[in-house]
Amino acid sequence: MAEKETVIVTGGAGMIGSRLIELLLPTYRVVALDNYFIGKKENHIPGVEYIEGHTKDIEALLGKEMPKIIFHLGEYSRVEQSFKDLELVWQSNVLGTHYVLEYWRKRGCKLVYAGSSTKFADGGMGRDQSPYAWMKASNTELVKNYGAWFDLPFAITYFYNAYGPHELSEGPYASVMGRFKTQYWAGEPITVVAPGTQKRNFTHVDDLARGLLMVGEKGQGDEYGLGSHESYSVLEVAQMFGSEIVMLPERPGNRMESVVDTSRAEREFGWKAEHTVGEYIEGLKKQQK
Ligand SMILES: NC(=O)c1ccc[n+]([C@@H]2O[C@H](COP(=O)([O-])OP(=O)(O)OC[C@H]3O[C@@H](n4cnc5c(N)ncnc54)[C@H](O)[C@@H]3O)[C@@H](O)[C@H]2O)c1
Repeated sequence: MAEKETVIVTGGAGMIGSRLIELLLPTYRVVALDNYFIGKKENHIPGVEYIEGHTKDIEALLGKEMPKIIFHLGEYSRVEQSFKDLELVWQSNVLGTHYVLEYWRKRGCKLVYAGSSTKFADGGMGRDQSPYAWMKASNTELVKNYGAWFDLPFAITYFYNAYGPHELSEGPYASVMGRFKTQYWAGEPITVVAPGTQKRNFTHVDDLARGLLMVGEKGQGDEYGLGSHESYSVLEVAQMFGSEIVMLPERPGNRMESVVDTSRAEREFGWKAEHTVGEYIEGLKKQQK
């Protein structure tokens, strides 16, 4: 039997990375690099080689690998908290990503970059609304330039708010849906950051991972938006749980409107989000804690 080709997933112990790996495993040998800042060993999947470390050390840690594709998901991934965590964001999303791009350049393989839709929010102003958004947007430009300067194959995806299995549901880095879920199961009021009218295109992690795999195998270039066309305000999502709601003070970095454009992935691969937020929340309400 022919040996499987190698794929590297940075951030492989995180929410989207772990789901992507499940889809990759039947076809590829998967090597995951994660520093467990947010990722968890409980997300590990048998058959994957997990390397613990920071992306800035990728050459030292994965120097022998000659991957077919690098999926670069291993970055700091929180909008509001990025104002407080500047050093961490810079280390991961500027320094770490620099070394991932250098690793890519030296191998001439394909790189898939997990960009953020915050770049397009509020009529394009979103890219400047938080350190996270700015660094993610800048990285999409850097990846594109690397592709052009060094004639390298790449593809860039833009994710909209992920929810689903493996979402972080406790602590300061919990996602919106993760926090709502924990509060609902604990019988506590659901806390919504004011004004609550901020709109999000919540997208199930299975839909994101399926799209990411398609882009990894067949995509080329920029503009692979992957998001659900359903748009809800954060308050509307909280109301779906049917619990009491308590408003929290406004925080910086909170974009109000997101514009979803999935036309390229739809046109090229027939990708569409299949899951709905309503179904997911109904499922959570039926589950025991
Ligand atoms: N979840 C979303 O809604 C969303 C939206 C847009 C873009 N993205 C991007 O998609 C990617 C994956 O997102 P996710 O939701 O799975 O986030 P996540 O935080 O669950 O996963 C990121 C993983 O990368 C790891 N990591 C962070 N910095 C690292 C470093 N320097 N070296 C090695 N590992 C590192 C973390 O421990 C974590 O396991 C991220 O790059 C994120 O910015 C996510």
